Amino acid sequence: MKIVKTFTILICLAFASLVMADHPMHNHKMSPEMKKQHETMTTINKQWSIIQKSLNSSDIEAAEKAAGNILEKCSNIEKFMLHKNGDKKEEFLVKYKSFEGNISKLHEAIKLKDLDTAKGLLKPVDNSCKECHSMFR
Ligand code: HEC
Repeated sequence: MKIVKTFTILICLAFASLVMADHPMHNHKMSPEMKKQHETMTTINKQWSIIQKSLNSSDIEAAEKAAGNILEKCSNIEKFMLHKNGDKKEEFLVKYKSFEGNISKLHEAIKLKDLDTAKGLLKPVDNSCKECHSMFR
């Protein structure tokens, strides 16, 4: 009887540790997807601050580089695994497209050294970030 009890407890412990290891929230291990999403958004966030600062100080070269960096990174967003409103992937992609469109326009305006147009696009881009976050972040 004692052996059966000990054995049952051991099996339970083994099962519990498997469940814990599989669950990223319990041991703070990030899955590769989550790491990539975090990295993508952190980069976009950093480059976005650079664009805003450099347009305000008319540093066109820095702004162009940062906008290029965002364009390079942003297609990662399409593959995001959604933790919130995951059943609304289509709407997410619409918001992604709108963001990408605004960033492309901004990149073009900067390349043409058209600072008025570029500065006018800061608000629409900022709204694209917020619109997506309000639903999916
Ligand atoms: C199409 C949707 C979408 C757009 C557009 C978007 N984001 Fe995000 N963002 C997300 C999602 C989803 C998360 C949460 C990621 C996760 O949980 O893996 C996020 C997370 C973040 C985070 C937190 C990163 C972290 O993991 O700590 C920052 C910062 C951020 N976004 C900044 C921005 C900025 C700045 C912009 C615009 C220049 C932007 N995002 C545009 C969807 C978007």
